[in-house]
Amino acid sequence: MKLRKAVFPAAGLGTRFLPATKAQPKEMLPLVDKPIIQYGVEEALASGCDQILIITGRGKQAIEDHFDVSYELERMLEDRKKIDLLKIVRSISDMIHVAYVRQKEALGLGHAVLMARELVGNEPFAVLLADDVIDAKVPCLKQMVEVFDQTQCSVLATQVIEGKMISSYGVLDVKPADGRFGGRLYEIKNMVEKPKPEDAPSNLAIIGRYILTPAIFDCLANTQAGAGGELQLTDGMRLLLQKEKMYAYVYEGRRHDTGDKLGFLKATVEFALKREDLGQPFREYLKGLKL
Ligand code: G1P
Repeated sequence: MKLRKAVFPAAGLGTRFLPATKAQPKEMLPLVDKPIIQYGVEEALASGCDQILIITGRGKQAIEDHFDVSYELERMLEDRKKIDLLKIVRSISDMIHVAYVRQKEALGLGHAVLMARELVGNEPFAVLLADDVIDAKVPCLKQMVEVFDQTQCSVLATQVIEGKMISSYGVLDVKPADGRFGGRLYEIKNMVEKPKPEDAPSNLAIIGRYILTPAIFDCLANTQAGAGGELQLTDGMRLLLQKEKMYAYVYEGRRHDTGDKLGFLKATVEFALKREDLGQPFREYLKGLKL
């Protein structure tokens, strides 16, 4: 089976970013000049997905508008002969076929993924958490697609997280898989959502990129609320593990947790420094700061 569909849970309330997210979705906060969710959508497209499904909720209209055609803006840019800007604006709405599903209540990540059931149907799909922006030569999801193509099993992105911060993640218990992927592939034995540091089975955290087989839907439907009183994707995947083999892949790339204020600032600086048009003057500016 080939991976074609990518699901973006985007109904979360964004409390970590108040007040900016009071009347604006956190997924629309820009890193330099591009909304966070667009980085993820571009990654999914570059990884071979051609159907994007965004799980939204109240107050998330701006996401739909962003990926839609903006006639007034296009007409104005055309009239003013702003061809470069016109290209940028058009490329966003041309980019993809997007479908939206409403998650009426924010009952957890597992619940959000379950909302995708009808539109995903009986085929494998990716889940991307837009907060995790991953800067990589080969897009993170594409690296995982290579694993999926060979194994036809669910694949989770993982990264080592040192110290107490491990408690903010889903954490994996693993054993090394065969050597095909340069020691980056592990077979998952168990997983737990947000354990206390002393209970964490390893320092391998689940990062917001998943390729899942459709069997996850039955598992999620049979999962009870877990950590934080929410229906956790990690708990659903633990049930999936009883039915199917699952892999964890240590991706190559640099991940930014843009849902966190400091992470967001770091990502902004690094992305700005990489820009052809802004990098040089921004570097000069930063050097001039008396820190
Ligand atoms: C979610 C998942 C968690 C995962 C994390 C990655 O947590 O529940 O398993 O490790 O994303 O960013 P959240 O960040 O929504 O609390």
